[in-house]
Amino acid sequence: MKRIHFKVLSFLFLILIISASCNRKIAADKTVTGFDPAYEPKIDSILAMLTLEEKIHMIHGNGMFSSAGVSRLNIPDLKYTDGPTGIREELERYSWNPLGITTDSVTFFPTGTALGATWNTDLAYDFGIAIGSEANSRGKHILLAPGVNIIRTPVCGRNFEYYSEDPFLSSAIAVEQVKGIQEQHVAACVKHYAANNQEYKRSEINVLMDERTLREIYLPSFRAAVVDAEAYSVMGSYNKFRGHWLCENEYMLNTILKNEWGFKGAVVSDWGGTHSAVKAAKAGLDVEMGGYLEKHHFIGLGDSVKAGLISESVIDSMVKRILRITYNCHLMDTGRVTRMANTPEISRIAYNVASESVVLLKNDNNLLPLNLSELNSLAVIGSNAVKRQSEGGFTADVKARYEISPLEGIIKKAGDRIKIDYQQGYAEKFITVDTGGRWPMHYPDPRPDLLLIDNAVAAAKNADAVLLFAGTNRFVETEAMDRKTLDFPFGQDELIKAVCAANPKTIIIVVAGSACNLNIADSCSPAILYSWFNGSEGGNAIADIIFGNVNPSGKLPFTIPVKLEDIPAHALNAYPGKNNSVEYKEGILVGYRWFDTKQVDPLYCFGHGLSYTQFSYSDAGSNKKTYSSGEQAKLKISLSNEGKTPGKETVQVYVQKINSSVPRADKELKAFKKIWLQPGEKQTVQITLDIDDLAYFDNELNTWVTEPGEYTILFASSSEDIRAQSKITIK
Ligand code: BGC
Repeated sequence: MKRIHFKVLSFLFLILIISASCNRKIAADKTVTGFDPAYEPKIDSILAMLTLEEKIHMIHGNGMFSSAGVSRLNIPDLKYTDGPTGIREELERYSWNPLGITTDSVTFFPTGTALGATWNTDLAYDFGIAIGSEANSRGKHILLAPGVNIIRTPVCGRNFEYYSEDPFLSSAIAVEQVKGIQEQHVAACVKHYAANNQEYKRSEINVLMDERTLREIYLPSFRAAVVDAEAYSVMGSYNKFRGHWLCENEYMLNTILKNEWGFKGAVVSDWGGTHSAVKAAKAGLDVEMGGYLEKHHFIGLGDSVKAGLISESVIDSMVKRILRITYNCHLMDTGRVTRMANTPEISRIAYNVASESVVLLKNDNNLLPLNLSELNSLAVIGSNAVKRQSEGGFTADVKARYEISPLEGIIKKAGDRIKIDYQQGYAEKFITVDTGGRWPMHYPDPRPDLLLIDNAVAAAKNADAVLLFAGTNRFVETEAMDRKTLDFPFGQDELIKAVCAANPKTIIIVVAGSACNLNIADSCSPAILYSWFNGSEGGNAIADIIFGNVNPSGKLPFTIPVKLEDIPAHALNAYPGKNNSVEYKEGILVGYRWFDTKQVDPLYCFGHGLSYTQFSYSDAGSNKKTYSSGEQAKLKISLSNEGKTPGKETVQVYVQKINSSVPRADKELKAFKKIWLQPGEKQTVQITLDIDDLAYFDNELNTWVTEPGEYTILFASSSEDIRAQSKITIK
């Protein structure tokens, strides 16, 4: 007995040591993650040794997910991998078919909007470290992530891969995630550059918007990733911008990305997103990717050089940028770190992101958290309680080593203490529709399954409380397709009405990547949690929140409207466009900027998220009253935890220009900070505000202008819940 005891203890001790050393290991070398100038002479000298043929081989795919090196000079092939939610399984070299091996299962990470909802830049960095480690462990050099596009409409099928409707939040998260990824000697490939905000007709659509909108809303997250985190690569998107495909768009690639922002890395095309050779290369595309080798435009660039259609110096510049990735990922020296996948530390990071991402939308009479000692039985209802959300979504599909479903998480926490009855509640059926595109679309069947509803109602009647897992899934929200409606698919609203009527203690947990129509849920249920496609640890995280082991601290990274028509792009009939062209008529008024300015009430506003405790704000101020352009204001606010539970609050700083000389949004997010406080604790929170972040882009002058005058600084718990304010002046 003693021996067994000893064995168990030594095993636990070993696990502790392993996880502690993993901990140290993946975070140890916090070095500069940008381009190292010391490599430049080496890159120049190896470039001079390459033949034109070798250079041409290097600038296009030589397999679905690789581009060539030069073995004669020990330059390795570059290996690419999707994607933002985990390292994709190995595929056949020349097709999208899985290789079918057993050693490529990985961690499924919470998706982009989940990370956005944490409002935690430290976690974004950890996430980058973790996913970068897994890419490294699989021998990958370029991770096709993160996705930093702005959520313009909630129906966009890929919103779950992106962070937010707000450029400041998106930028802050992107910077830290890119740094984390590249610290693992893996290049981040920031995608999809740019103005790729709908999946519907993504390969045909021409996006039009004015310069101010481009600069203030759609470019900042890319700029931040490139300028502040020195991302090694950027992916050119499928769509057109102002009449030119992104992968041959001189203005977007050469003028802005490379010349203005000083991007030193490589622009990689989205898969099959290249439409020309000479035009694309001259415009700034560096690598053509996509699996269809014989169709690669860049294969012919050697002949174009010989025919005098393009200078070899353009090809040299492309290769030089590729070599920068090769060198900076330490593929030409012995400095590359070696990482492992599926470590306890990586699981811990996946858990931390998941548990900080869940948003408590509503909690009437403090129904949550559930007190296990007051319960004998629970009904868990809805297919999303058991569904594997790692699967689906097309190129963001993940072969998860494990995925704890919500039901498994709940059983682990409570299964030995109370009776748990699971009922499916709705059937996931799809209707195939030929929309005239490249392939037929599979839209969810909106009809409820009455038998499943009857079974759910019976279980709800017999339970002390109900956990109803509603929402979408990775086949409803997916690449290459936009949703047609915000309504819950598969007739779930009928289920919600029936179950709430059967048991008033019905808590709804929405599992989705983007906003849904919550009107029915909101009118029937006293408590709603917004969870996400939340990774391998998602089930553990949601169970901990439901039972109060974790205090929810997620805040919405987008607005949940009352109806789709309230979303600016839809209100102005500016989605999905006509004749393959879409004009962003709402301009800078995206997301809450529109709702605030036009005084449209959302159902749940941007930045909203409750806690099991209450925070109070007081004593707003700043280190000075007057600032000049280029300075930083040190803002101050006292925050205290007034309740009995420890918790985290995100202090959101919105700024309003008083008497602006140009039209502006009512207010804009310009800073935030997430703070942990014990019950009764009070802290003076210091938040840095870059004065130049208050500038607007002047279309006429074609430059940023920091307007002098008075500004109101709003300290807020959400975009609608302003708790304190102060004023500053810019000279
Ligand atoms: C997607 C990219 C992805 C690429 C490779 C494309 O269809 O748009 O995000 O990285 O495929 O799988």
